[in-house]
Amino acid sequence: MMSESTIAPLPYVAIQVFYETSGVAAIVEEATQDRRMAKAQIRVQAGGVVGAVEAYRDAPTPNVIVIEAMGDGSVLLSHLDQLAGSCDEGTRVLVIGHVNDVLLYRELMRRGVSDYLVAPVDVVSFISALSAIFTGPEAKPVGRSIAVLGAKGGVGSSTIAHNLAYTIAQEMAVETVIVDLDLPFGTAGLDFNQDPPQGIMEAAFDPGRVDVNMIERLLTRCAPNLSLIAAPSSLERVFDFSAETFDPVCDALRASMPAIVYDVPHLWTAWARQVVVGADEVVIVAAPDLANLRNAKNLIDTLALARPNDPRPRLLFNQVGLPKRPEIAAAEFSKALECEPVGMIGFDAQLFGAASNNGQMIAEIQPKSKTQEAFLELARTLMGRQEVRIGKKTLLSTLRERFAGRANRAA
Ligand SMILES: Nc1ncnc2c1ncn2[C@@H]1O[C@H](COP(=O)(O)OP(=O)(O)O)[C@@H](O)[C@H]1O
Ligand SMILES: [Mg+2]
Repeated sequence: MMSESTIAPLPYVAIQVFYETSGVAAIVEEATQDRRMAKAQIRVQAGGVVGAVEAYRDAPTPNVIVIEAMGDGSVLLSHLDQLAGSCDEGTRVLVIGHVNDVLLYRELMRRGVSDYLVAPVDVVSFISALSAIFTGPEAKPVGRSIAVLGAKGGVGSSTIAHNLAYTIAQEMAVETVIVDLDLPFGTAGLDFNQDPPQGIMEAAFDPGRVDVNMIERLLTRCAPNLSLIAAPSSLERVFDFSAETFDPVCDALRASMPAIVYDVPHLWTAWARQVVVGADEVVIVAAPDLANLRNAKNLIDTLALARPNDPRPRLLFNQVGLPKRPEIAAAEFSKALECEPVGMIGFDAQLFGAASNNGQMIAEIQPKSKTQEAFLELARTLMGRQEVRIGKKTLLSTLRERFAGRANRAA
């Protein structure tokens, strides 16, 4: 028998339940009151597997979908196959059925269902099954980590990292943390109007003590679904770390946060390289000039070599179209790097100046702007959601058109 005390608390995950009977609805309701579920967000609705198929036809899926199935096994399987077609990468499915059927169980496992519980289910078994998805010996990490760094200093990589994290948290409703790794000069605290007493420094100077509980204390809430691990932004100490310094932080965050955004300073130290190489996704922010082009090329080539089985680093243009500045055209830049950009953000001194002076995000000042659209597009791409198309055109063709327009006006 599993005793209650051996069940690990759930990480910050979103769970959606589609029940069919009031018995299961009541157990789920009771489970939400349990201390181990405190970090999880649970939504409950009627509808069973048909309801789930309906709900996710066009909407992103949460970390876990729990489905109660009353009916016939083969009908359940065919609906699950339909659901699989609209499931995001990493979404887990837990089924609560009403028949104790080994063949059905095997079929479900073969399809990647995390577990099959037979009703009536008690609260502890339900929580235990959810917990095992994330903490069991075969559990995959919950989090997707994204490292954002600039091809040059001052190109806006921190600004992009903060707005990206905010957009993932707000518009995609995914629990997100932003980690400010610019220890002496970081601006995440300023950008989110926070001045916490603790942050990444505590973890960096005592990596041996880092675990999920310690990380929990270093987090500062800065918006719904969004936390910050702030930099000390002070020069009292120097920050020469060894390569593995941030490994425990990265591991602990991966085990508990669905989205992790690292704001990496423009450095090439052992530890900065390690964080970037270890991330699931890398975004290189570049402004359209020659030094950026050379550096972005070096970064992309080096990182692609160091992580041959991961997605190539993504290139994001920022501060494009600064009046009177000669620029390298995006198309040329991309061709030189053999890399299609994931987005392009124009230079807008007023918008970005106001945001940084007020400690606000672009989504708070201009939620309907092209700039915010670019952040949403970037967020979707990085979180593994289906590519958004603007009408029938791809993002790149739209960018090309915008650039052609600009070139025509200049001529
Ligand atoms: N698209 C943009 N248009 C105008 N100013 C920008 C833009 N992106 C960033 N900035 C400004 O550039 C400055 C440097 O940004 P920051 O994010 O600190 O760069 P980095 O982290 O790459 O050094 C900030 O003042 C920021 O507000
Ligand atoms: Mg920065």
